[in-house]
Amino acid sequence: MDEHQLSFEEINKSHRKQISEIRKNRIPISIITDGINDIGNLGMIFRLADALRINKIYLYNLKGNFNFKLLKKKSRSTSNYIPYELINDFSQVLNLKENCKFVILDKTNKSVDFSEFIPEFPLCVIIGSEKFGVAEEMIQLADYSVHLPMFGVNTSINVATATSVILYDLVKKYQKNEKFHNK
Ligand SMILES: C[S@@+](CC[C@H](N)C(=O)[O-])C[C@H]1O[C@@H](n2cnc3c(N)ncnc32)[C@H](O)[C@@H]1O
Repeated sequence: MDEHQLSFEEINKSHRKQISEIRKNRIPISIITDGINDIGNLGMIFRLADALRINKIYLYNLKGNFNFKLLKKKSRSTSNYIPYELINDFSQVLNLKENCKFVILDKTNKSVDFSEFIPEFPLCVIIGSEKFGVAEEMIQLADYSVHLPMFGVNTSINVATATSVILYDLVKKYQKNEKFHNK
């Protein structure tokens, strides 16, 4: 073996170190999925959460016999790394609200264009199901609502697509804020 080549053990060690660094340095943004059961969408949301080092995913109101093995496949195994928790009781949502601001991603009567939103952290982002959107009780509880402007015929887009656009913007705003405070 060439002296500059890493051994299998060294590669493994550096990979474990990298994962532990990622675990320690997460962005203070969590996601609450409100009644989303579509495994394809959940898989995409996990991959996105991994890409952005999102703090945690709360799966609220998951119905029936959920296939976690399939979620692992659809999420390309990122469900092994992203902390997630199943919550079914609204009181658990209320507990989360004690420690972070809530922002709804949906078109509501008080929502603003996402690009104008000035976030506060830690932040919980709430996203809704294809069929029902975000539940009214969540909308009432939230501090803010943001939407992606829609210029076409439809009034909404796919939930994972909407979440991607808005989360990238939020993470950018968080990083800018950090830089400003650490100057
Ligand atoms: C397909 S939409 C729900 C449509 C549902 N039939 C309704 O009318 O509320 C699923 C989720 O994607 C997100 N979403 C879709 N389009 C959006 C947009 N333009 N702005 C913000 N969020 C959006 C929201 O979280 C929404 O709850």
